Amino acid sequence: MTAPLVVVHPDAETLATATAARLLLRLMEAQSVHSPVHVALTGGSMGARVLAAAACSPIRDAVDWSVVHVWWGDERFLPPGDPERNETQAREALLDALPLPVENVHAAPPPGPGISTPEESAVAYAAELARYASQGDDAGAAVPAFDVLLLGVGPDGHVASLFPGSDALDVVDRATVGVSDSPKPPPQRVSLTLPAIETAQEVWLVVAGPDKAPAVRRALEGAGPAEIPAAAVRGRRRTLWLLDVEAAP
Ligand code: 6PG
Repeated sequence: MTAPLVVVHPDAETLATATAARLLLRLMEAQSVHSPVHVALTGGSMGARVLAAAACSPIRDAVDWSVVHVWWGDERFLPPGDPERNETQAREALLDALPLPVENVHAAPPPGPGISTPEESAVAYAAELARYASQGDDAGAAVPAFDVLLLGVGPDGHVASLFPGSDALDVVDRATVGVSDSPKPPPQRVSLTLPAIETAQEVWLVVAGPDKAPAVRRALEGAGPAEIPAAAVRGRRRTLWLLDVEAAP
């Protein structure tokens, strides 16, 4: 795993626009080499801003969306269509405007028949991930070969729904975990585990704002995952910290 590369942008708007362009170009490159391609999105405001920027990008339609599969690093365990669900926000920002096959959008299931807890949703999501796992996956977590996995970072250094000091950080034998005590509302969530995140070819941490600067600094200083979960994540081939000036150390 390579050392993280830090790229600083003048402001959050430029960060969102540049990350959107970077994502679209990365998907184009990936689908020039293999098909299908898999991308895992992040929730949070920066995640939504990147998708909104991609929606109005002039190169949006240069991607062959018919071979793109969309996943999430985490999801809020809320009813279908709830505005606080990451899936809802991603659909509104970008996905519903794309010619994506319905079956190519894979969100952790909301409460419903047979799914009444975040853990049950996590089990169902893990089964969906495993259905698309690349053959001979040695990562221990049966998940697709994510070409890109996007992550936001909280002021406490959390990524996905993996929070400092959480037991979920210690889950290494499965791809997903149910969370019921998220300090960031809503409390009930489903998250990829750290091993699942680290199977991605590229992990991009997209971070803006002065409130994130202490966590970013500690992560880049090499803090441990119990203190700063963001510090632990690496892509197999590339790890990018995409920051605005205010979040940069
Ligand atoms: C979520 C996100 C979460 C988010 C960070 C950063 O579901 O809440 O996945 O991990 O990415 O909290 O959020 P902001 O970009 O809004 O600061």
